[in-house]
Amino acid sequence: MSRFISTLGRGALGFTLAAGALAVVPAAAQTPAQIQAAVDAAYAKYKDNNDGAVADYIPALAKVDPKVFGIAVVTADGKVYTAGDLKTEVSIQSISKVFTMALVMEQQGPDAILTTIGADATGMRFNSIVSVEWSYKGLGGSKLENAAEMNPLVNPGAITATSMVQGKSRAEIWGNITSFYNAAAGRPLTVLKDVYDSEAATNQRNQAIGMLMYAYGYIKDNPLQAVDIYTEQCSIGVNARDLATMAAMLAFGGVNPITKKQVMKAADVPEVLAVMSTAGLYDDAGKWLFRTGLPAKSGVGGGIIAVSPGKFGIAVISPPVDAAGNSVRAQLAIADISNALGGNPYAQFGPAK
Ligand code: DON
Repeated sequence: MSRFISTLGRGALGFTLAAGALAVVPAAAQTPAQIQAAVDAAYAKYKDNNDGAVADYIPALAKVDPKVFGIAVVTADGKVYTAGDLKTEVSIQSISKVFTMALVMEQQGPDAILTTIGADATGMRFNSIVSVEWSYKGLGGSKLENAAEMNPLVNPGAITATSMVQGKSRAEIWGNITSFYNAAAGRPLTVLKDVYDSEAATNQRNQAIGMLMYAYGYIKDNPLQAVDIYTEQCSIGVNARDLATMAAMLAFGGVNPITKKQVMKAADVPEVLAVMSTAGLYDDAGKWLFRTGLPAKSGVGGGIIAVSPGKFGIAVISPPVDAAGNSVRAQLAIADISNALGGNPYAQFGPAK
């Protein structure tokens, strides 16, 4: 059992709010002061929580400061509510998978994702090679009934999604990815070179996944270039405000509520949120959805984004992760804040417990 479950279960079966935190009321009734109070309460409640450990399978991630803790919430009017560290950038890591998936949908339509990759949880770890072997093409068949499923938020599907981004050269593909991410974040993001170099030197497993996906026909050409671009997209630096803005773009029909720019088609957003719901927190995606109802995505850099459609985008950065690879404090803080703001889209007829 992951540390997340024991941590959350101890104090928050039913989301016990911090002393002095807000009672649950509909989001429409929230004043700016109430939203800020919810953010401040979660920050105060979890700032001294030391559970989890920084990921170290990418050597550069082992050097990240575990004390970094930043929270940001972005609402429809473009207001940003924050607490803690808003300056430090962590690598976006797997949260990038959401935006590359969205970009592919923008370029080729949602069916391209569904037919090439799929939309079901694998039930296996994010970098599982077994899931590739058990996929229908891995088993040598076409749409075998008992084949394993795949989606764009685990490595085989994510590397495939990166391989699908259009562009005549590596530079053009990279330019399309970064333009999309920058528009979502509302500012030019940059690559954390030490993280990119470190992961590029140690990503043999992802290279193997890329080659297998190519061997089985999911990736059409240049698999190692796709892995390299995927590695670079995972190394983009983001702070909590960047991530919350990117989440808010998904919460408000593809419009970045700060820049007011339409980043992606509103029609493509529901499918992105659907895959985030089923596979965003890997092995704990179901438990997360059970407790919060929020489409979300984690990264081993320590960030988590979550989306309350039509209400807010939220992000927390805190590098120590649990056994499933999800930031411990980010899960706790997002759950509390969303509960205080009535963020659970399934709780239309009464507050979440
Ligand atoms: O593929 C990898 O190993 C990373 N670049 C991304 C992994 C990641 O964030 C998984 N986690 N939650």
